[in-house]
Amino acid sequence: MADAGTVRNRRKVPSPQANLENKIKAKYTVQPRKNNGPFTPRSLFWIFLITLTYTVITDPQFFIESFRRVLRGPKQWISVPGTTTHNDSQVVLGADIAKRDAVVEAFKHAWLAYERDAMGADEYHPISHEGTNLTEAGGIGYTVVDSIDTMLIMGLEDEYKRARSWIENSLTFERDGNFNTFETTIRVLGGLLSAYHLSDDSLFLDKAKDLADRMLPAFDTPSGLPYPMINLAKRVGVFNEDSRKFVSTAEATTLQLEFRDLSHLLDEDIYWEKVEKVMEVVKAARLHTGLASIFLNPEDGHFVLSAIRLGSRGDSYYEYLLKQYIQTNLTEPVYRKMYDDAMEGVASHLIQRSQKAGLTYTSELIPERNPQGEISWRLVPKQDHLVCFFGGSLMLGAVHTGSLVHPVSIPPRASELTDQGRRDWINGYELIETCMKTHDTRTGLSPEIVHFRIPSDGIDGSAAPDDWYIKGAKAGERPPYDARYILRPETIESLFIAYRLTGNQRFRDYGWNIFQAIEKHCKIPTGGYASVLSVDHVPVENEDKMETFLMSETLKYLYLLFEDASVLPLSKWVFNTEAHPLPIFKPSIRTGFS
Ligand SMILES: *[C@@H]1O[C@H](CO)[C@@H](O)[C@H](O)[C@H]1NC(C)=O
Ligand SMILES: *[C@@H]1O[C@H](CO)[C@@H](O)[C@H](O)[C@H]1NC(C)=O
Ligand SMILES: *[C@@H]1O[C@H](CO)[C@@H](O)[C@H](O)[C@H]1NC(C)=O
Repeated sequence: MADAGTVRNRRKVPSPQANLENKIKAKYTVQPRKNNGPFTPRSLFWIFLITLTYTVITDPQFFIESFRRVLRGPKQWISVPGTTTHNDSQVVLGADIAKRDAVVEAFKHAWLAYERDAMGADEYHPISHEGTNLTEAGGIGYTVVDSIDTMLIMGLEDEYKRARSWIENSLTFERDGNFNTFETTIRVLGGLLSAYHLSDDSLFLDKAKDLADRMLPAFDTPSGLPYPMINLAKRVGVFNEDSRKFVSTAEATTLQLEFRDLSHLLDEDIYWEKVEKVMEVVKAARLHTGLASIFLNPEDGHFVLSAIRLGSRGDSYYEYLLKQYIQTNLTEPVYRKMYDDAMEGVASHLIQRSQKAGLTYTSELIPERNPQGEISWRLVPKQDHLVCFFGGSLMLGAVHTGSLVHPVSIPPRASELTDQGRRDWINGYELIETCMKTHDTRTGLSPEIVHFRIPSDGIDGSAAPDDWYIKGAKAGERPPYDARYILRPETIESLFIAYRLTGNQRFRDYGWNIFQAIEKHCKIPTGGYASVLSVDHVPVENEDKMETFLMSETLKYLYLLFEDASVLPLSKWVFNTEAHPLPIFKPSIRTGFS
């Protein structure tokens, strides 16, 4: 209405008197503006600005979350880090020869010291120059077998020949001691199988069969879930004092790639059937969220009321759901379904964002019983270094179970991923960034366990950390267990996968930084590498232990990060949880449950 009046006035040619009157009116009356009423564009802008400022000041996390939601709303607005919108973006992933060769030198520094001081022993202590065995019955090639495929991949022929000769002449599984079913499978059985695939040398397959046959009785429980320990000479499964009459979920569900590979190689169904039965029992026991508690009861096949987490005792359950689907060349929908359900549960219950910087991390769910006996689940913002495998795993899952085309481009186009694929890809990418943030320590190494800040944690003071911290660490006191770095591979594993899927140089740069920190703080001048007791203290105090996964995983993934992508391509190989590559194959047996 007011608009119409204004227009009419302008068109009229006013008399001088009217002109003056109009000027006075203009000066002393408030002219009605466009959009009569309180919500003019300008006032809306101010309301918005004041509300925004207020929100940012009083509740920054809410602001960050809302902002993210807006960003993730309509599809075309979503920014999916590490993907592309272009069509012609095939990247070349050639070797970085200098860095790759520096990793080979590191491997030799580790191996030659072990060979000199402790050849044949299961474990190595580089400071005292000693080897020890897992049991008094004698070693089972824990270190030699775990390392030999890395030698084949790195082309270390002399070292390989000597290691092979030890396996041929000295390795025996006739050991009357109790060995961990899971560790023996992933390190020794997995190592033998990879060595066989990479060399075609039947020695390794014969040894693998001998070991697996000795392990089969581990599955002789009422439910079919395995005993956590196995006596290799007596061929009998036993429980582990640490975990009463239970088996941890990751231990029961991280045997499948290895036993299935052996079944395929030997064309014998028994290995396949034993580990498939485990998956059937776990699927039937499943919790409604798709998540899994960390203990199972082999007696009745049910979950034991226990924590839910992506860290220790839970981690590789999720990893192997995906990798069983990949190993069988995407032909087993049952594993895909289990994986999809689990990722739904992870996204809705475990993924969190940190207070200040909005870092993506994963929490644990801890069950608590109140006096009335009711159970509730408490979210604890604790993340093991072990969880850092999960960033790369989520990205690998996104391109296999969350893609509209197969294979996706490198890097993927955002349009090639489903909503769920984008969700997992983004969470995976961001989780890797978070893991890299936990390297912001005095050594550049990341601690074994970090906690993220939450409002109820009771930490305050101006020196309080913003986002994450090492629980129990106090200046001048003995560092807590959480502060150590034991040469773990998980972040590097994720960097390797992320690099192969994107070709993005940032992942190589991250990997090189970690490698340099290991060289600086873990390398023992006389040979070998050792754990660090506190990542936040320099000069460091080393612990007299070189974990076998340094040579099987950490250095292998670093090597592959800088090696040409045609070496062990992810389209043809799947890595077991100890970084032993196994080929993808089309199975001749179908899984017997759904
Ligand atoms: C990308 O390339 C494919 C063929 O390679 C074509 O079918 C498609 O339309 C292209 N998409 C865009 C967004 O250019
Ligand atoms: C460990 O076992 C190996 C056999 O694999 C043996 O040669 C060595 O003497 C044992 N070491 C110790 C410290 O018992
Ligand atoms: C996996 O499946 C794809 C598509 O069906 C096929 O091209 C490829 O050869 C298969 N790989 C193996 C190892 O069977």
